[in-house]
Amino acid sequence: MSKIIGIIAGSLRKESFSKKIANALLPMVPEDFAFRIISIDDLPVCNQDFDDKDNVPESYIKFRNEIENIDGIIFITPEHNRSIPAALKNALDVASRPAGKNKWDGKPGAIFSNSPGNMAAFGANHHVRQCLVFLNIPVMQQPEVYLSHIDKVWDENGNLKDQDTKEFLQKAVGAYIEWFKKIKG
Ligand code: FNR
Repeated sequence: MSKIIGIIAGSLRKESFSKKIANALLPMVPEDFAFRIISIDDLPVCNQDFDDKDNVPESYIKFRNEIENIDGIIFITPEHNRSIPAALKNALDVASRPAGKNKWDGKPGAIFSNSPGNMAAFGANHHVRQCLVFLNIPVMQQPEVYLSHIDKVWDENGNLKDQDTKEFLQKAVGAYIEWFKKIKG
């Protein structure tokens, strides 16, 4: 059976570059794997009162099931004020609860950060990495994936047109899959 790799874009914006990158990865999926985009758009802000089993939002139940049913995860993160966007941090928090039921546990991950600016969301990339240590998501180290000037790589229909970016992403996906196999056998 195919191994399922979730892809989460850390932005709620309709025209998000992170969402466009997630879509651009779909045709790069290798044999024996499936890529599945998982939305974080409908998750209320994490509130410990929602740990009460009679008080869990429907969207939390759906999202936690989606995370439970993947084998690995690629995060596409933008940067907000040199750090992790609140929506992505929220999603990490939601699927980490209730205590002792961390849905991320042991699923190999990768972080692809992006920005229209020069620094390619370096700060966000490493703040996501910090959270993943505690969530026990082993994270691919190399290649590091920093995508700068991400506003410049699309055609008018939102398809990835820049050949260098395409090749780099394909290489990063290949490296992630090889590393996934090493971790999961
Ligand atoms: C930003 N942006 C931004 N960019 C960056 O490179 N470093 C930063 O620290 C920030 N900070 C920041 C804060 C807030 C609140 C917003 C809304 C935006 C710009 C950001 O990179 C740009 O809007 C991206 O297009 C956001 O990603 P998506 O939505 O296109 O995926």
